[in-house]
Amino acid sequence: MHTLSFGRIVYALTFVTVLLSAAGSAKAVPVRRSEPPPQDDPFYTPPSGFQSSAPGTILKTRVMPSPLVGLSSFTENVAGAWQFLYRTTDALGNAIATVTTLIEPHNADPTKLLQYQIAEDSASQQCAPSYELQSNGSGTASVLDVLMMDAALNRGWYVATADYEGPNSVFTCGLTSGQGVLDSIRAVLSSTSTSGLKSSAGVVMWGYSGGALATGWAAELQPTYAPDLKLLGAAMGGTPADVNATVNAVNGGLFAGLIPAGILGLAQQYPDLNTYIQSQLIPSKAAAFNNASKQCAAADLQQFANQNIFSYFSNPNVMNAPVAIQAINASHMGSYQPKIPLWMYHAVHDEVVPFAPALAVVKKYCSEGSTITFTQDEISDHIILAITGAADAFNWLVARLNGTAVTPGCTTRTTATSILDSGALVTFGSIIFNGLQSLLGRPVGPTSIS
Ligand SMILES: *[C@@H]1O[C@H](CO)[C@@H](O)[C@H](O)[C@H]1NC(C)=O
Ligand SMILES: *[C@@H]1O[C@H](CO)[C@@H](O)[C@H](O)[C@H]1NC(C)=O
Ligand SMILES: *[C@@H]1O[C@H](CO)[C@@H](O)[C@H](O)[C@H]1NC(C)=O
Ligand SMILES: *[C@@H]1O[C@H](CO)[C@@H](O)[C@H](O)[C@H]1NC(C)=O
Ligand SMILES: *[C@@H]1O[C@H](CO)[C@@H](O)[C@H](O)[C@H]1NC(C)=O
Repeated sequence: MHTLSFGRIVYALTFVTVLLSAAGSAKAVPVRRSEPPPQDDPFYTPPSGFQSSAPGTILKTRVMPSPLVGLSSFTENVAGAWQFLYRTTDALGNAIATVTTLIEPHNADPTKLLQYQIAEDSASQQCAPSYELQSNGSGTASVLDVLMMDAALNRGWYVATADYEGPNSVFTCGLTSGQGVLDSIRAVLSSTSTSGLKSSAGVVMWGYSGGALATGWAAELQPTYAPDLKLLGAAMGGTPADVNATVNAVNGGLFAGLIPAGILGLAQQYPDLNTYIQSQLIPSKAAAFNNASKQCAAADLQQFANQNIFSYFSNPNVMNAPVAIQAINASHMGSYQPKIPLWMYHAVHDEVVPFAPALAVVKKYCSEGSTITFTQDEISDHIILAITGAADAFNWLVARLNGTAVTPGCTTRTTATSILDSGALVTFGSIIFNGLQSLLGRPVGPTSIS
């Protein structure tokens, strides 16, 4: 599907609220910036000695400083929203502190929690979900993410969403991301006296694309890193099982900006990789490349569109050095085995996150005894499936949280969808259904769904 305009791809991938414009006449919503970005906000700095606390320990608590962003310029009317600075662990085993945002809907069911992973896709801390979700922060949370979290809030579930990339914004680092997700769950389950969420709540996880990287790693690491957590399942789509495959797929195309963000994200986790990368950049191009550590995904996609990212380096095979291979390999999924039930969905022709590595990891998990329902979609592309695959994923999460048993083992289904069917209306209700429709490029207005 190459019918999408560049503007719509940027919009759909990052779902940037300020670009929201169904008709294409982009009129930016004025952004108020009364909240300092994370790098200037003392809330994000852990107290001294925090390293000795257990993973998942809440270090600081605040009511979310400004209202949650909603669709367009609206804010959300929820019962409560808190932010917790909590202790987690990075890929090198170091104690780090990051923030999770917990949202309580009106008439909440305190026995149900969705841990939702936003596709931040950036190596800059100002793009952390805790800040993007604030109307007086950057307010740039993606429309799709807002819709998906709203779907869960409308069911009465609490929703937590973590800055799983951590304080160094280590985009594409699987270990740090997965551990950040698991410790967010530990943290919010211990927040009962603040939030009312029960420590015994049933928990499910969900994420697509960059959010699936974090979700998938959390599922893989849970048996070893967080065996105390009882998770009912995880849904993930467009799963980047092999980030190198994405590099190869998107270089030179509209999504090339993911590469500098991914390389710098990994470099921010592995100091020796950072030293090496910086030494290999062509000096006159270094500043432009390093912009990817200071801006969010939409700006990266715009700056680097259609470029050969390896032209920024004196040696185009820069990522074949052992220090780079080691870091990329460490984020290759499939080294650990998920024990929780999984719902996975992927477009066969995914042009951003190639299908084959995801299928390979599904086969590996299944050969080791995991329980997975895997949907391969033959028509959608990466963006379209994020939208059209959402209803089935959500229904599966509903079933997990209501205690429906899963049949053990693996099954594969094939779908061919590029539109929302009426089942999605039943699942989501008309507001979210219409929001998804507009993301698919339908004219916004009363729609017949016969
Ligand atoms: C958001 O920022 C605007 C402008 O700085 C300010 O007037 C308003 O009170 C802020 N709202 C909240 C809820 O902080
Ligand atoms: C890097 O970012 C700066 C600041 O946003 C911008 O002015 C500059 O044009 C960017 N560089 C490139 C090559 O786009
Ligand atoms: C990444 O892909 C390139 C191109 O196929 C290959 O040369 C390189 O060895 C791969 N790196 C890793 C870590 O798999
Ligand atoms: C990276 O992974 C590939 C494929 O799994 C393997 O052949 C290679 O030895 C690994 N390299 C390192 C440095 O871990
Ligand atoms: C649980 O969810 C499944 C799937 O949506 C539904 O068929 C079933 O009726 C639900 N059960 C309860 C007890 O709500």
